[in-house]
Amino acid sequence: MLPGDGIGPEVAHAGTAVLQQVASKYGHKFRIEEKLIGGAAIDLTGSSLPPDSLASCKESDAVLLGAVGGPKWSDPNATVRPEQGLLQLRAELEVYANLRPVQIIDALSGASPIRPERLQGVDLLVVRELTGGIYFGDKTRDETSASDLCVYHTFEIERIVRVAGKLAQQRDSKLCSVDKANVLETSRLWRDVTNKIMRSEFPDVALEHMLVDAAAMHLINRPADFDVIVTENMFGDILTDEASMLTGSLGMLPSASIGASKRGLYEPIHGSAPDIQGQGIANPCGTIASVAMLLRHSLDLYEEAAAVESAIRDVIESGARTADLAVAGDAVISTVDMTEAINRQLR
Ligand code: IPM
Ligand code: MG
Repeated sequence: MLPGDGIGPEVAHAGTAVLQQVASKYGHKFRIEEKLIGGAAIDLTGSSLPPDSLASCKESDAVLLGAVGGPKWSDPNATVRPEQGLLQLRAELEVYANLRPVQIIDALSGASPIRPERLQGVDLLVVRELTGGIYFGDKTRDETSASDLCVYHTFEIERIVRVAGKLAQQRDSKLCSVDKANVLETSRLWRDVTNKIMRSEFPDVALEHMLVDAAAMHLINRPADFDVIVTENMFGDILTDEASMLTGSLGMLPSASIGASKRGLYEPIHGSAPDIQGQGIANPCGTIASVAMLLRHSLDLYEEAAAVESAIRDVIESGARTADLAVAGDAVISTVDMTEAINRQLR
């Protein structure tokens, strides 16, 4: 478990509290080691991903992460940054497929800026490529210019499309591949490879290509039309913050980052939210839902995963609201109280 920075420790501890509840209810024993990452690691060791943290992650069945980053480490001239630790961890664990499900809880429709009738039937999954593209290309900087290289290799596109194709088969068999093929060469390769893999290996899945600007619009305009979206690293980052608003809050969205092995990295999609850090008001639901994904993908604990997911849903439906979910008149509860309510429901 890597708490990280800002609200990271608050939500990550909520996640482990729910894991402990699952352990006692179902008779499991989880061995949890807490390690440094991000700014907290820079302060204590000078590195954003100390070797000891990485080694512990590699020896674990799963990694639960809070969030990294904050103003303290955001000096544009800094040589080490908290985010580098997270990117290095994703690369080292080779978790190239980042699954970000977007499911609506009806009781939260008032918290979403989108009109409730457009939210009807929304249930989509973004499969974001996580270890390639502009995040990992060479960077340059001189007095008057800067560059970030965006590279994609065929094998990277093939393997992420396979993940998305398989998941689409288990859902509504619809895949929307999002790119910017009218401008970017990497997107033209992406489109070619996607066509090839989908036609030969997933002929039963309906494939559509969409330009990222149009996708940003349609996510708001007709979100229920999407089933599985597959896209490259940066587009997936941006579109999932946008998509989170369908649920009412960025704080609701979980993620699972997986690769060839069962080991996965689980984190909420939100950041370290330094503006609310230390106040005990962060929404732990995205992290707790990430724990459910961890139970399912890395530990094969399907019943436990489903129980955690329904506990979140039940508690929200019964009216529990952290500050980010509250609309006028709602009583607001703390991170700890929301976590305790979910644990009570689990019990
Ligand atoms: C995310 C975050 C990270 C990303 C940051 C913290 C590097 O925004 O997980 O979506 O861009 O991948
Ligand atoms: Mg992001």
